[in-house]
Order: sequence, then C-alpha cells, then structure tokens
Amino acid sequence: MIALPQSSPRPGSAILGLGAYEPSRVISNDQMCQWIDSSDEWIRQRTGIVERRWAEPHETILAMAASAAQRALDHAGLTGDQLDGVIVATVTHLEQTPALAVRLAGALGCGPCPAWDISAACAGFCYGLAQADALVRSGVLGHVLVVAGDRLSDMTDLTDRSTAFLFADGAGAAVVGPSPSPRIGPVVWGSDPAQGPTIGQTLDWAEAVSQGRPAHLRMDGQPVFRWATTAMADATRRIMADSGLTPDQLDLFVPHQANNRITDSMLRHLRLPESVQVARSIQRLGNTSASSIPLAIDQLYRAGQVKEGATCLMVGFGAGLVYAGQVALLPAPATPARDQNQSPAAPERPAAPATEPPTLPHQQ
Ligand code: UT7
Repeated sequence: MIALPQSSPRPGSAILGLGAYEPSRVISNDQMCQWIDSSDEWIRQRTGIVERRWAEPHETILAMAASAAQRALDHAGLTGDQLDGVIVATVTHLEQTPALAVRLAGALGCGPCPAWDISAACAGFCYGLAQADALVRSGVLGHVLVVAGDRLSDMTDLTDRSTAFLFADGAGAAVVGPSPSPRIGPVVWGSDPAQGPTIGQTLDWAEAVSQGRPAHLRMDGQPVFRWATTAMADATRRIMADSGLTPDQLDLFVPHQANNRITDSMLRHLRLPESVQVARSIQRLGNTSASSIPLAIDQLYRAGQVKEGATCLMVGFGAGLVYAGQVALLPAPATPARDQNQSPAAPERPAAPATEPPTLPHQQ
C-alpha cells in the first residue's frame, strides 16, 4: 500500500491580528427617509440602527479589504509577503471570476500563495476563520489572512422600505497563524436550505444583464427574524459547550449585527452574566454582512473593552440560510492606539483586568 506524505499537525492556531475599515460616507436615518416611507423613530425602535456607512466609488471592496487587511497585518506584526494563504468572504464582488482574494493577495504583495473567495453571506467571517484555523492546525498553511468585505449598498433597492434602511458597507480582517495551544475553538456551523427563499437576489446576474436592470437584495424579514432568535441562541449554546467554557468565562459576545432586537432576544434565551460585553455596532454601522463581526470587534478594541486573551464568542448567520460561530481568544490591543479611519467610540465599560485565559479544545 502506498502511503502519501501528510503535513505535520500543529498544537493550535490563533488570531494574531485584527483590522477593519469603515467607509467614509455616513447616512443618517433622516437621510434614509428621503428615499423610503419610514422614520428615524421606526428604524431605531425596530433595529437599533441610528446611522450606517456607505462606500464612496473609490472605496471598492478591494480597497476596503486591503485597508482592513493591512491593519490586521500591522496588528500581527507581519507583512503581506509572510502570508501563506488569503481567504475573502464576500457576496457583493460583482465578478464571478477571478476571485477577489487573488487580487487582494496581489495588492498586499503576498507572492504566489493560494487565494480564494467564499460565499457564506453574513456568516462569511466565521466560515473563513474556521477554514483558516483548520488549515493552520493541520499544518497545510502557515499564516492565513481572512477578510470579510461587502458593499451591500450596491445591491440595495432604495425604493424597498423593507430592506433599504438595514444594509451597509465595510470590511474586516484577521490574520491566523500557528500557536503553541489552541486559541480558536471548535466551529459550530450549518445550513438550513428550507429557509433558502427568505433572502436572495431579485434577479440572478444573467437576468440582470439581459434585462438591463440591477440585481437587488430582497428579504422576507419576519421569518428570518424568527429563525435567528431561536436557531442562533441554540447555536450559541453549542459553541459555548464545544469550547468547554462556562458563561462566566466569556468576556465578549459578538453576534452578527442584523438587528438589536435579535441580539436582545438571544440574550433573553442565553441569560449571559452581566460581565459579558455584548457588541452593539449596528447602531453606527447598520448590517454590513460578513464584515459585521470583525467591525464589531474593532469597535470594542477602540472603546478599550478588549484585553489580551479575551474570550470572544462570535456567531454569524445570513442568506442560505447559513450560520457559523466559534470562540477565539483575542490578541492584545495594538500599541500605540490603533490607527483607524474613524474616531473611537466612547467606552461603555472599562476593560477587565488581564487574567489567565482558559484553554480551548481542539476541533475533533
Ligand atoms: O443579515 C441577514 C439576516 N437578516 C436579518 O436577520 C433581518 C431579520 N429581520 C429583521 O430584522 C426585521 O424583520 C426587519 C427589521 C427587517 C423588519 O422589522 P419587523 O419588526 O419584522 O417589521 P415588519 O416587516 O413586521 O413590519 C411591521 C410594520 C408593517 O406595518 P403593519 O402591517 O403592521 O401596518 C410594515 O408595513 O412596519 C411596516 N414597515 C415599516 N414602517 C416604517 C415595514 N418597513 C417599514 C419601514 N418604515 N421601513
């Protein structure tokens, strides 16, 4: 029997650096209501959104992804040529081929490393993190960049008042590399094809071309809302259990920023301790798809709410419907203060003192 050589597994992987990019154009709820029959009060009450950021023409997905990636590399103390793989999670890169990740690898000076895109909608960052973790731990790749970037504004129908106020743009990135112990926990992920019709495009690309009309996002919000509140609370419990953490060992809870009422409902189900800091970046950023989780973590860093080794439970969900989540121990904040393109948010709570982080189990 021929035995083929295998890569040598490593003891663990870790997030070594994180970065994000927020577009420059701020759209308030009042501005949004120039286009749709709605009100600032309705949008705030139903979603928690106060404003969102839309990309200007020069803020392409590639440009936003490159900025977020460079910040993550700086945070990790690495350069692009030290990367061994690039994964981009996006659903708004409007070309089927080539993959955006290959262009990003070129822009970052990565050399001839593997680079590919994944389509997992708002769960894309957690899907990418799971892939990077597995590839690093298995010894297949060394340092892997995971970037989530979307321009949902390109696909938003400004005459559709059931979606227009929700969606926004941005990018977030993480550098994953080898670690002497696991600092990224087991992923819990899945899909629910029966819910497929709830989120999609008004036209596929071929129809958009032949009809000369843009393809927009469409969503049946209520069933997605109901699904998310129950299924994602359950997924979060499983993520916690698989990570071997007790609720009092959790520092940060970062659910996909789809709707503050979904987050509130999950919290009612989960009964997390008061000590857990819950990400609420939807107020400033709206729903930014796959980048919502790294953007929310970035906001927590800038507010001084992340200490080295903070246990961070992430869970993303979106079109498919698909979902994914895991716990990661976060790297120390960058010093000096993180170089961001936006002014820092006011701290809601001081960072907890540094304590010895728990050990996360391997994915089986
Ligand atoms: O990121 C991907 C995953 N996406 C999500 O998780 C989104 C999940 N869904 C949601 O967040 C919510 O369903 C929405 C925020 C999209 C909508 O909130 P809702 O509480 O489910 O509103 P609804 O669709 O049930 O509409 C309630 C009422 C209706 O009026 P009536 O029938 O009660 O008189 C709507 O016509 O609000 C009306 N309405 C609006 N009113 C003012 C719907 N859209 C608007 C609007 N402004 N923009």
